[in-house]
Amino acid sequence: MTGAPSVSEGALLRELCAESAGKQGSGPVQAGAYAPDRGGDGLSKKLVYSPAQALFYGNIPSDVLFFCRKGLHFSPMMRIMKRLCCEGNETCLMVYRNILDALGNTPLIHLSTMTGPDDARILAKFEGLNVGGSIKTRTAYRMIEAAEAQGLLSPDSIIVEPTSGNQGIGLALVGAVKGYKVIIIMPDSVSAERRLLITQYGAELRLIHDDGDIGKAIDDCIATANAMAESDPRVFMPNQFTNPENLQAHIQGTALEILDQIDGPIHGFCSGVGTGGTLTGIGAVLKKKFPDLWICCAEPEHAAILSGGNIGTHVQMGIGDGLIPDILDTELYHNINIVTDEEAISTTQALAKQAGILCGLSSGPNVCTAMKMAKKLGKGKTVVTILPDTGERYFSTPLFQQGWREK
Ligand SMILES: Cc1ncc(COP(=O)(O)O)c(C=O)c1O
Repeated sequence: MTGAPSVSEGALLRELCAESAGKQGSGPVQAGAYAPDRGGDGLSKKLVYSPAQALFYGNIPSDVLFFCRKGLHFSPMMRIMKRLCCEGNETCLMVYRNILDALGNTPLIHLSTMTGPDDARILAKFEGLNVGGSIKTRTAYRMIEAAEAQGLLSPDSIIVEPTSGNQGIGLALVGAVKGYKVIIIMPDSVSAERRLLITQYGAELRLIHDDGDIGKAIDDCIATANAMAESDPRVFMPNQFTNPENLQAHIQGTALEILDQIDGPIHGFCSGVGTGGTLTGIGAVLKKKFPDLWICCAEPEHAAILSGGNIGTHVQMGIGDGLIPDILDTELYHNINIVTDEEAISTTQALAKQAGILCGLSSGPNVCTAMKMAKKLGKGKTVVTILPDTGERYFSTPLFQQGWREK
């Protein structure tokens, strides 16, 4: 840190922090400076400074980025943080170099209207507000950065990925910023909006027919991508289903953000499974910190492969791909909550109507699972879950058909 806070700055920061803490309930203030991905395990070396901490710590490194959730006290806090940390340091940025610098640090939202008075509180990390509108921009970025670091990519590389949607959008976005050609292979049963978004980011789309068996359609997508990789040496396949960097994006990113955002203990965590990166990555880090953590997996009724069920087609896009992914740690979760399409849709709709959160169709399964956990755990406990994407890519799906049950 180059300067000490002036008496009036210190007083103002303390005032803002106290006021924010009061308004937001418990938990640290959402503003600060941090150095992402610094140091081996990412657990001990990651530097996070709230404005209050910034008053006491020194030596903020030169490549810090700033984050602050827009809203409460954004401007005054940021002004003081910038002066404290960046004075005379040209590499300290308030302006992001590109959209990827704005990745992560999504808000954790108390879903107070989704639980009863005797239930545990549910805190949901809203990834619909992330860059690219979903949690999968994190994994796209991490997989591409790692491939670059390992020398696996060159300017003429073609990034090819079989995916049921959001991973494709994330890769198309990262490819657009970094200048790579991207080809996404996906089942034709995914929403039209996802296809449009991928092409809008400049990627090419290849559609594979889903004739009512999502597992087979995904297998066909994977086979098509493998064939392309075999026939063209320029092809790089991130392969989100096996790539350990998918997990690392959550271990070193999403999970640490959650720990930074909550000051008290976490008693329950739940998530659906697409690649299993979210459940395994976040679950493992939270479990390490809270050994008694109850981890529950949400699974679509018509693709309940983890529960030994049959695979069909369902509306819970993003989870239940009809396969058991390599990176999913099936020992980590304690039980599985089977979610019907009706529950998924009605809970996702309730999130918009009761909490003002417009999220996608895999958020409903997570929240209705969290609601059951909250009932079992009871008042005073905390359940964390994820809202993986924005609802604005589901206009053509049953999510937006208000009378869908009667049809
Ligand atoms: C909307 C949505 N929800 C949930 C998931 C599942 O995340 P993960 O692949 O980490 O299991 C995905 C993955 O693509 C997704 O797109």
